[in-house]
Amino acid sequence: MIKTEFFETAVMLGFYGTEAGGLYGKKDNVRKYWEDFSIKDLLKPVILELLDRKDNIRITDFGCGSGEGFELITHISPKERPTKKDFLLSPEQVEYYLGIDISQAMIKQGSAIYSTKKNIGFVQADLSKEYPFLNEQPFDLYLSTYSSPSHLTGDELKKLIEKVLIHSQGKSYLILDLFGKFSPEWPCYWEGQKEEMLPYNMSWLHLPAVLKPEEVESYYVKYWDSESLLGVINNIAGKLNKRVKITTKDRSIFVGRHADTGFYNSHPQSLRYQVNRLFDRDYEGRIEALKADFSFLDSYKNNYPEVWDRIKSYQDNWNTVVNLCGALIENNNNLVKELIESTDVELSEELKMLTWLYRNSQRFPVDNFLASVMGPQLACVLRNLEMNLPEGIGCGHGLFCIIEIN
Ligand SMILES: C[S@@+](CC[C@H](N)C(=O)[O-])C[C@H]1O[C@@H](n2cnc3c(N)ncnc32)[C@H](O)[C@@H]1O
Repeated sequence: MIKTEFFETAVMLGFYGTEAGGLYGKKDNVRKYWEDFSIKDLLKPVILELLDRKDNIRITDFGCGSGEGFELITHISPKERPTKKDFLLSPEQVEYYLGIDISQAMIKQGSAIYSTKKNIGFVQADLSKEYPFLNEQPFDLYLSTYSSPSHLTGDELKKLIEKVLIHSQGKSYLILDLFGKFSPEWPCYWEGQKEEMLPYNMSWLHLPAVLKPEEVESYYVKYWDSESLLGVINNIAGKLNKRVKITTKDRSIFVGRHADTGFYNSHPQSLRYQVNRLFDRDYEGRIEALKADFSFLDSYKNNYPEVWDRIKSYQDNWNTVVNLCGALIENNNNLVKELIESTDVELSEELKMLTWLYRNSQRFPVDNFLASVMGPQLACVLRNLEMNLPEGIGCGHGLFCIIEIN
């Protein structure tokens, strides 16, 4: 008799179900390999600095969901090699992680996931008026990820920043991850708005299905530009006599969630979907669909010159990289040469690397070289272009802000 019970158990446990791919959804490839990656890259110097001074660090996470921030922070690569450590900060080096979220369901899930970990706690609270972290010893890192503090009004965020600045002791860090006001996803919000809190929706969760506007449920969030944010933080720090050093970065300028829905700009472009395909090792990105076209923002050039310039120059570089890949695939060697020779040194090096890779495809024997080798590299180059941009101005889906408090 053939023994089948092992397989039946495996099926029951879900091991033989279809796997959710990374082409759509909350934890799609862009979230994992672009957004998480950028956040980890930005947090790495912070963690390194903390670990230089301390063996263990204390973290509180505002709008923690079910503890995604804990996972991020404990999955940053180590500084030096060779190393026996998989990650820079191990879960055991977190003296205490306190996740705070308004949603009971998130708190319940987080508590269940980490139920065996004594150094991880969750508490339900509304950060617009409750500050449970004040009952604890000071933290080294007051964290937030993926736009959580954008759920607060300007005054509510000010109050939270104030509480953090008072509560912190010695050198510590506040991380604010907010929605960027000048994202190309929502030029309708660029103009000065009377209402402070403006609608946002998660209709992108349903892609590739497109919801009708009446089927979409919205909630209200605050979109920030870095000038206003810096003004708010410096003002509070000045009043409290605290020294702060602030850095900002724009994240997901072209691959924000609503690039593809076009919900707020009426110009859907499937850029996030195409980059999701690039990161996937089975799907090729479609070169034509990867070309970014934000010319519909040209009318904002005079009123928002800095924003427009930033988006335009990123778009030019993005399209140069995409065009190079198109030229390689079409064997258009003249165009490849022209593109490499007409760009600045840094970009030119990236183009040369992609060209070498493509022309050496025989060294990488895989079923589909474009999907498995070239695509992920192309996605990394597009991501690097964004990560190498100067200080953020608020023109990304996310405005990531690191505040060093002294
Ligand atoms: C986009 S999710 C981000 C979750 C998580 N940080 C992550 O990285 O995936 C925003 C979170 O903020 C929480 N939130 C919204 N308003 C809040 C408030 N007033 N106080 C505390 N948490 C809040 C939501 O419940 C939600 O879990």
